[in-house]
Amino acid sequence: MKIAIGSDHAGYSLKEVVKAHLAEEGYEMCDKGTHDTRSCHYPVYAEAVGKAVQSGEAELGILICGTGIGMSMAANKMKGIRAAAVSDCFTAEATRKHNNANILCMGERTLGPGLACRIADIFLTTAFEGGRHQTRVDMMMELERQ
Ligand code: RB5
Repeated sequence: MKIAIGSDHAGYSLKEVVKAHLAEEGYEMCDKGTHDTRSCHYPVYAEAVGKAVQSGEAELGILICGTGIGMSMAANKMKGIRAAAVSDCFTAEATRKHNNANILCMGERTLGPGLACRIADIFLTTAFEGGRHQTRVDMMMELERQ
């Protein structure tokens, strides 16, 4: 499975840890930057990962900033993107099963590397349940047209 990953400066170190962990597990990682800890603007990387998911270049995306919040807000402005800011294992599973989230957002300032890797593992291995949740996801995506 191909995964697009990106971060700003505040998420760079955790991005490198999560990227290495997932590559070790056999995922094909497509790193959209940033590539160091110099101050930068998170919407740039939210857009790059969002485009990779929109185009099908990557099946799912991961975005990391200080909190995961700015990245999720920015990515959710893009058509077809359902980005979830996650900081626990239960939510990682639920947002795939119920919301069909296609981008996982996490915060380097709020999560340790072990938990972040576990959250990423759960997010990437949990399937959307469809059924009644598909109806709700369709309704949510319809809001993009307003
Ligand atoms: C950068 O200082 C920080 O604002 C950013 O990484 C993110 O947490 C915003 O939501």
